[in-house]
Amino acid sequence: MAERTTAPTASAASAATSSARRRGAAEARPVIELVGARKTYRSGSIEFEALKGIDVRIDEGEYVAIMGPSGSGKSTIMNVLGCLDTLTEGEYRLGGVDVEDLDEADLAAIRNRQIGFVFQQFHLLPSLSAERNVELPLVYAAVPADERRRRARAALERVGLGDRFENRPGELSGGQQQRVAVARALVGEPTMILADEPTGNLDSVSTADVLALFDELHASGRTIVLITHELEVAERARRIIRVRDGLIQGDEVTA
Ligand SMILES: Nc1ncnc2c1ncn2[C@@H]1O[C@H](COP(=O)(O)OP(=O)(O)O)[C@@H](O)[C@H]1O
Ligand SMILES: [Mg+2]
Repeated sequence: MAERTTAPTASAASAATSSARRRGAAEARPVIELVGARKTYRSGSIEFEALKGIDVRIDEGEYVAIMGPSGSGKSTIMNVLGCLDTLTEGEYRLGGVDVEDLDEADLAAIRNRQIGFVFQQFHLLPSLSAERNVELPLVYAAVPADERRRRARAALERVGLGDRFENRPGELSGGQQQRVAVARALVGEPTMILADEPTGNLDSVSTADVLALFDELHASGRTIVLITHELEVAERARRIIRVRDGLIQGDEVTA
């Protein structure tokens, strides 16, 4: 394990150089850049600073775990990275674009085109078949029906569910449901997959199954950001960023 400096002033620059070094390429392209990121929640007169100024750079093709205990700020980071919430202070650039400059419509378009979400609770629609669930991001992107169907089926085949097109979520195991969710995340060919505790509701067999799928996606060049509180899960990534109390505690490259 190679520890990297996490001094707030130097971390963005050092993360950039060690990212490039790790990939053996001088021109690694950043997908995510957080600079001096702060998030304060306000309810009435009460304020809570969930992110206290963090710098994170994640390059194209990286497989990164963001790990920390409950309450450390992981979901806050996920919401910011996924353009579901905005920073109180600091910058977030996604694919080089400053998210701060975008309006709601642009943000919705970015979420749909650039990010494939995978959640702990799957978030599949129970009344729709696997194929229909996977098609949904393409419906929002106004892709024609025949192309939607072709791409949804290809994505389901990609996750090993080529024989489950017509099944509804209730007819599938937890692991199979999460694979449908991964197919849905993939179908729009997003810039990155953003997964928040994707194995949190799965038994050990299904967990292994979904993590094997992430390994494959990483091998085929996808950028994956996996948020987890479990070391065993985090260790499947190539880099682990540790968060605690709204700060980055460590950033290391795994074997
Ligand atoms: N909407 C909110 N309003 C006030 N405090 C919040 C809100 N969301 C999260 N928090 C607080 O921010 C901290 C980080 O939360 P979160 O990002 O959900 O952590 P994690 O996902 O690591 O468990 C926690 O102390 C939590 O109570
Ligand atoms: Mg959380």
